[in-house]
Amino acid sequence: MLGGSHDPLSGPLRRQLRRPFSLKYTKYSGGGRPCIWHRIDPDHRLSTSAEYIESQTVGETQPVTWTVRRILAWMAEDFAGRGIVSPRLDADLLVCHALGQDRVRLYMDLDRPLDEAELAAIRGRVARRRRREPVAYIVGQKEFYLRAFEVSPAVLVPRPETELLVDRALQRLGELQAARDAGAPLRVLDLCTGSGAIAVTLAAERPGLALDATDMSAEALATARRNAERHGVAERVRFFEGDLFEALESGDRYALIAANPPYVGESERDALEPEVRDHEPPLALFSGADGLVLLRRLCATVAERLEPGGVLLFEVGAGQAATVCELLERDGRLCEVRSHRDLAGHERLVEARRRSLSKPSATASAANARKM
Ligand SMILES: C[S@@+](CC[C@H](N)C(=O)[O-])C[C@H]1O[C@@H](n2cnc3c(N)ncnc32)[C@H](O)[C@@H]1O
Repeated sequence: MLGGSHDPLSGPLRRQLRRPFSLKYTKYSGGGRPCIWHRIDPDHRLSTSAEYIESQTVGETQPVTWTVRRILAWMAEDFAGRGIVSPRLDADLLVCHALGQDRVRLYMDLDRPLDEAELAAIRGRVARRRRREPVAYIVGQKEFYLRAFEVSPAVLVPRPETELLVDRALQRLGELQAARDAGAPLRVLDLCTGSGAIAVTLAAERPGLALDATDMSAEALATARRNAERHGVAERVRFFEGDLFEALESGDRYALIAANPPYVGESERDALEPEVRDHEPPLALFSGADGLVLLRRLCATVAERLEPGGVLLFEVGAGQAATVCELLERDGRLCEVRSHRDLAGHERLVEARRRSLSKPSATASAANARKM
């Protein structure tokens, strides 16, 4: 019943929706009896509703009361039929956005009839979602580590997997801070910052921490700066435009370097969801045929930019962790190379440490041992 002539995007209904919304009670006159009023069943059991009676008499033009509940159910069914992965959640978020309400408020008023302006606002959002535009771009923001980040098609939508990197970074920052003199600040770098999700979250979670963040995209950096303002950390995050470390001073060294670089292979393009393939910025996604071009460059250069004892954390694609670990292990300046699994059990985070000056490298120790 929710598709076809009931589709709020279709012509006949659009005409009906121009009527003022007094459709909750529908006048029915039939069979020579006096006019009677039938209340539309709140559960929309059409067999007992005035809608049903009208549908029997006037067919296509039966009136439909588009309550919040009804539009949510209709959208969820429509989205599900189009292969959208989280149809009900998407419906909720889009209706909340169209109505300027949060979900609690939305659920408190499920049987409220929607007026035409509200339906028009919802209709525009449904049309965009049907074209598989990510909900985050439609509503202009995405939750990351319990904060709302502005997003636009200039930046990748921050992913929950990246929260794993933030968790680990916060843990390692705690250890690094504990190991140095109180008051000596830690320098932190977020490479390929995009919306600034990692840098801004670390700054917000650790007041007093100062960070640098880089990206190749000027538009992405503009979004990241707005996110830093939004979360009150703009004073503590410096943004630089350039290729990897290029925009930084040659002598800059960091206690922690985090990176979520592009790592999707061009060869995987056709297998991507349309939301990703057709809407997210290619610069944020792809890195050569196997997805490892930028990670290879990073692995070859990152040790140079770490302080002795400094830590690197890279998010990688599923199936890439072993290769990235191998690349890092080739650099004798790095040690403690390991990967971490995400909640789905995939190794998506690679970590390593630059050897401390005080501790001789394993290779050096082995060499010394051999000399003795
Ligand atoms: C996967 S997105 C990361 C977004 C963000 N860090 C996050 O976790 O949501 C990768 C970002 O890297 C940037 N990028 C791509 N190639 C780059 C390069 N060579 N140097 C610096 N940034 C680059 C893209 O513009 C994009 O914003």
